[in-house]
Amino acid sequence: MRARRQLVAGNWKMNTNLKSATELAAGLAEKLKQDLPGTEVAICPPAPYLAAVSAAIAGSVVKLGGQDCSFEEPGAFTGEVAPEMLLDFSCRYVILGHSERRQYHAETDAVVNKKVHMALKKGLHVILCVGEKLEEMEAGATETVLDRQMTGSLASVTPEDLAKIVVAYEPVWAIGTGKTATPAQAEKSHVFLRQWIANRYNPQIAETLRILYGGSVKAANALELLQMPNIDGALVGNASLKVDQFWPIIEAGNTVGSN
Ligand code: PGA
Repeated sequence: MRARRQLVAGNWKMNTNLKSATELAAGLAEKLKQDLPGTEVAICPPAPYLAAVSAAIAGSVVKLGGQDCSFEEPGAFTGEVAPEMLLDFSCRYVILGHSERRQYHAETDAVVNKKVHMALKKGLHVILCVGEKLEEMEAGATETVLDRQMTGSLASVTPEDLAKIVVAYEPVWAIGTGKTATPAQAEKSHVFLRQWIANRYNPQIAETLRILYGGSVKAANALELLQMPNIDGALVGNASLKVDQFWPIIEAGNTVGSN
C-alpha cells in the first residue's frame, strides 16, 4: 500500500442539469457501495444540485464537495455560497483557487487565502488548486508561480490545518485543452510542491500531504500519471461527467493506491 491514499475527485464545473446530475451521481453511487482500498472518490457538482446529488449518493462511499465558497460569514452577499451551506449537504471538500475562478473572477492568492481560512474554520477540507499558465511554463517560470501561489494561498495556515488540505497541481494550459502534462513533467512540479511543504512546514507533513494532478486527465492517461510516486490522485473535469469515462480513472487510482 502507498503511504498516501489516492483521491479521485470530479469537478463538474457549470455542467449537468438536475436530471443528468442526479443520474450521474446515482450511477457512481451504484458502483461505489463499498470503499475501494486504494482510493477515495469525491464529486463536486454545481451548488444548486447539491441536495439532489447528496440524496443520490446516500449509502455509498462517494464524497461530496463544493466548487467554491465565500470567505464571509453568512449575510448580505448576493450569489455567494457559505461553507455552512456546503456542510448542510454533508460536503467534505471544497475546491478553492481553481484557475477558472482566478481567471474569470479575478481571485488573487489573497482572496484564495481568505477562503481557505474560512473553509477550514467551518470544518471543510480544502482542495487547493495551483498551476502556471502557458506563457509562464514556456518562460520557465513554473516553480516561481507555484511558490507565489503556495505562499499567498497558505499564508498563516497552521501545520494542524494543513492536514485538512489537499493540493491540486493543475497547469492552466492543460485544463480542458486535451493537452496533458507528461507524467515526468507533472511529477517534477509535484516534487517541487512537496519539497515546498517540507521546507515551509516539515518533512513529515510533506510526506502525508496529498497532491493531485489535474488537466485533461482521462481513462487513456490516468494510470501513467497516477503511477508517478508524488501524484496522489486526480482532479478531473470533462472526464468526470460520464460514469464510463470517470470509472476507469477511479480504477487507476485504486490500482495505484493498492500497490
Ligand atoms: P479537465 O479539467 O479535466 O476538463 O481538463 C480539470 C479541472 O479544471 O479541474
